[in-house]
Amino acid sequence: MNEATQDDPPASMPRIGDAAPPFEAITTQGNISFPADYAGKWVILFSHPADFTPVCTSEFMMFASMQDEFKAYNTELVGLSIDGLYSHIAWLRTIKEKITFRGLSDIEVTFPLIEDITMEIAKKYGMIMPGEDSTKAVRAVFVIDPAGMIRTIIYYPLSLGRNFDELLRVIKALQTADAFSVATPAEWRPGERVIVPTAGSCGTAKDRMDGAEEGVECIDWFFCTKELSADKVEATIRVGPTGQ
Ligand code: BEZ
Repeated sequence: MNEATQDDPPASMPRIGDAAPPFEAITTQGNISFPADYAGKWVILFSHPADFTPVCTSEFMMFASMQDEFKAYNTELVGLSIDGLYSHIAWLRTIKEKITFRGLSDIEVTFPLIEDITMEIAKKYGMIMPGEDSTKAVRAVFVIDPAGMIRTIIYYPLSLGRNFDELLRVIKALQTADAFSVATPAEWRPGERVIVPTAGSCGTAKDRMDGAEEGVECIDWFFCTKELSADKVEATIRVGPTGQ
């Protein structure tokens, strides 16, 4: 771990609710103009510390193996590290030819992996945390919606591989919240009750406590939920074929 010093410039950190900072990049799948090339799609823009490292390798195998499942929710993957294009290509080839992990093998990474040797994009997105490492990106996850707005940000340190069920859960929960104007409680998964927002948008507190809103159950004025079936959620947010 590196020490952050007083000389380090203040980090630029995009926030939830900001427009995704635009950039042009060279990737393993050609040049991209971000987020313009992804208009109308959800994107998981993520960074990893370095090519040819074990935790990153396991993560890329997981991302690649779940790519079709993310696509089924109109979600594209874009990776980034402070490595050059030829390093990326050699690493991804090694993964395909040699590495096995959790029963996965012969894994081909077909989503774009950005080269960012100048750190320009990593700095723009607050992916460099000098207290952790000043020359490697941390494991950042930016979830960007079809309008190019940042909707979720998650950071993990260098030593901790991400949880991919959680990333897919985040995508489903954000899309469900948008489609049904609800919120999703802790640990929510499709099929579980959703939270009906408070503050006047859906009737008064008394209406709610009296059960005036059909299907809404209130445990107290601020805690109202309703059923939302997994079938209804999936029929609304899923755009691709049923996977696993
Ligand atoms: C890894 O991916 O294994 C890793 C990368 C940088 C620092 C520590 C671990």
